[in-house]
Amino acid sequence: MITTSFKGAMLGAGFGLYIASFIVGYAYPAMTAKNDVPKVKDIHGNIVEVRPYTELEKRGREIYIKEACWICHSQFVRSAGMDEKRYGPVSQAGEFAYDYPATFGTRRIGPDLAREGGKRTDGWQYGHLANPQAMTQGSIMPKYVWYFEKDSNGEPDITKPTEDGKALIAYLQRLGTSIGDFRNPEGNKKASSVSVASAPKFTPEMVNSGKAIYEANCAGCHGINGNGAGPAAAALNPPPRNFIKADYKYGSSDVDLFKTITNGVKGTAMPAWDSLTESQRWEVIAYIRTFEKK
Ligand code: HEC
Ligand code: HEC
Repeated sequence: MITTSFKGAMLGAGFGLYIASFIVGYAYPAMTAKNDVPKVKDIHGNIVEVRPYTELEKRGREIYIKEACWICHSQFVRSAGMDEKRYGPVSQAGEFAYDYPATFGTRRIGPDLAREGGKRTDGWQYGHLANPQAMTQGSIMPKYVWYFEKDSNGEPDITKPTEDGKALIAYLQRLGTSIGDFRNPEGNKKASSVSVASAPKFTPEMVNSGKAIYEANCAGCHGINGNGAGPAAAALNPPPRNFIKADYKYGSSDVDLFKTITNGVKGTAMPAWDSLTESQRWEVIAYIRTFEKK
């Protein structure tokens, strides 16, 4: 027979255990979790906090999930050699701390997007989202035309994305940037280090090699005839320069052009051409000059 005092002791012990488990399993972790901001190692080796998504980025992430972009795109840079070369630094745990549900994906029908942020301009992204085939010949990615207002011909106007369209691109531009500006680790140091005093004299040989460089690297945006209307141009705002008009924004001397081509123009689709050697950059300028009709 169970006595009243035994019952009381069991009740007390049960209650005590309940309190203890409440503290150990919930209250203590909840209190300490407040200081538990996700952290990652940045490109300089410093430990930095991962900032949460903004409201716009969060909305973009929801659209990314709703549209099932993850069916074709993974979001994880593996520690396999070619992955790093192609996409950037290997993914780190803290970077995904805010991602419930996870968007790692399992298949790569399209490229991995873990480090898409800052890779392209917004203009490129809008043009691509509305019409991937205009940017990448033969792409099998669907056209997401409903993220744009219609122009007078009923076609998507890539300069007028909807609020959802803006949110989706804001999310893409955030991806993989928590570890810092890994695309430009030198920061603006590189930009100011361009110190050329004078241009070389252009020769017909330079114009010749410049033509090949131009057609391989520049014609997609600036047009094969230099008129600023290459196949990718329609999506770009500001538009690529028309070299026939030679109406330059950042100075029109050969040295000015050299600086612009070396640094690119931040915030536009014009890339920095440090992948070309210095003499290749002079050669392409020699060729660009042949378009000019003033
Ligand atoms: C049927 C598969 C498929 C789906 C679904 C898909 N994509 Fe793609 N995506 C691709 C392929 C293939 C490419 C590579 C060719 C290209 O550039 O279009 C690509 C390329 C991209 C790129 C360019 C990456 C780069 O910088 O080179 C981005 C950004 C992108 N997709 C975003 C999205 C978003 C956002 C969605 C959902 C709204 C989406 N994709 C849905 C197949 C897909
Ligand atoms: C992805 C598209 C794209 C590609 C590829 C590209 N450009 Fe540009 N370029 C632009 C855009 C956009 C601008 C306009 C920037 C602005 O108005 O601020 C521009 C501007 C320029 C200017 C004008 C600078 C000025 O002072 O007005 C020069 C010169 C130039 N590009 C040279 C080149 C050369 C040379 C190449 C190839 C090696 C090249 N671009 C490739 C998009 C591109």
